[in-house]
Amino acid sequence: MSDNRLTITDHRTGAQYEVPIVDGNIRATDLRKIKVQPDEFGMMTYDPAYLNTASCRSAITFIDGDIGILRYRGYPIEELAEKCSFLEVAWLLMRGELPTKIELECWEQRVMRHCMIHETSKKFLEGFRYNAHPMTMLISTTAALSTVYPEAKDIHDPVNRERQSVRLLAKMPTIAAYSYRHAFGLPYIYPDKTKSFTANFMHMLWSMVEPKFIDDPTIARVLDILFILHADHEQNCSTATMRQVGSSQADPYLSVAAAAAALSGPLHGGANEAVLIMLDEIGTKANVPAYIEKVKKGEVKLMGFGHRVYKNYDPRARIIKWAADEVFKITGVNHRIEVALELERIALQDEYFVGRKLYPNVDFYSGIIYQAMGFRPDLFTVLFAIPRVVGWLAQWEEMITDKEQKIARPRQVYTGYDERHFIPMEDRKPTTDLG
Ligand code: CMC
Repeated sequence: MSDNRLTITDHRTGAQYEVPIVDGNIRATDLRKIKVQPDEFGMMTYDPAYLNTASCRSAITFIDGDIGILRYRGYPIEELAEKCSFLEVAWLLMRGELPTKIELECWEQRVMRHCMIHETSKKFLEGFRYNAHPMTMLISTTAALSTVYPEAKDIHDPVNRERQSVRLLAKMPTIAAYSYRHAFGLPYIYPDKTKSFTANFMHMLWSMVEPKFIDDPTIARVLDILFILHADHEQNCSTATMRQVGSSQADPYLSVAAAAAALSGPLHGGANEAVLIMLDEIGTKANVPAYIEKVKKGEVKLMGFGHRVYKNYDPRARIIKWAADEVFKITGVNHRIEVALELERIALQDEYFVGRKLYPNVDFYSGIIYQAMGFRPDLFTVLFAIPRVVGWLAQWEEMITDKEQKIARPRQVYTGYDERHFIPMEDRKPTTDLG
């Protein structure tokens, strides 16, 4: 008999079970044969927040959180950030291999051709209240694109899927820029397909009638690198949402909107905005020790620290720290960096953080650099969503074409009442204090 198996003894019955081990893991459904009575459902695993459950097989992104390794399709993130453009990495994630020169040129042209959004979508954006958060506008407008492209529902056609994926990738910066300008009552700027992906985004964000917006190539390149770093991160909360919603065969606009909604929370992509708010609250280096004490007492969280998977320095945070220096050479230093560096210095020496393996994550420095580049904090999570759409779509495509995947449907451990019978209104006892 193969050694690739687990032997389980159920001490309730004395029965022994052999469970095959594949790729170092067991299948949860193999545990179903473990039962006391034949008519029982069988044993499940209870895993709130999926701390130890693999829900798919994926060939896209590899993370070794103990060492601090991140690879897309096998390539180290450091090499991709240094040598590639964001659209090159988008192709890699979505197609599996790096593009040739001609493939990349065609891909760039194709994506840039799809940047415009339908005029009715623009009107939809105009309907939001003047102070609507750009991330919420992005989520709602992405969902609304489903009405513009009803053919997206045919998720079984690979050509159709690819067309919708390109549209989503291309239109996210346009929706993001329109969402941003809405708050200022500024006219929407149409995309300029002669510019690069990131330079066009900044043009749509910041162009005024006079003078015309001229992008700084270093800033555009740094934004490109930041987009590469955020493009995918295996089964995080928003990607798991994309797969979960997509598994019901909802169209990709609705699935991306759901994934973006998951991203918006402060424990996920919303952390970059929360870090800036925290740094402003701390104010100066001198206030850092007192803030660390508040964190240790459990009164607040150190935003931008900690990660479910990384128990070492997040490799993306290291690259962002380097990129911050490049940006500061042009924009001048964002004084918040001093507070952030002091927070990191003290935290990395403190037993509370060392013992729990809490290190800076991607969001710790990204807000500081974005702010130095001229982005307002309420746009930070949107800046996370624009590149992450690539990862969501690559993972969605992988899920749709995976024969093992079905509609996602977790089980539960029921803890409520056993059967009980209807009580007429006059016999019920109050359960709330009506004050
Ligand atoms: N500040 C203070 N204590 C923390 C922090 C933090 N940022 N993160 C975790 N801990 C403590 C936590 O209180 C717990 O302590 P104890 O064992 O005494 O109860 C221990 O560390 C383990 O934490 P956990 O909450 O079980 O870890 P998790 O894997 O469920 O949460 C996390 C991961 C990222 C949600 C969490 O670290 C956190 O809330 N960080 C701040 C928000 C943040 O920066 N989010 C961005 C994540 S990276 C970008 C992305 O992928 O979205």
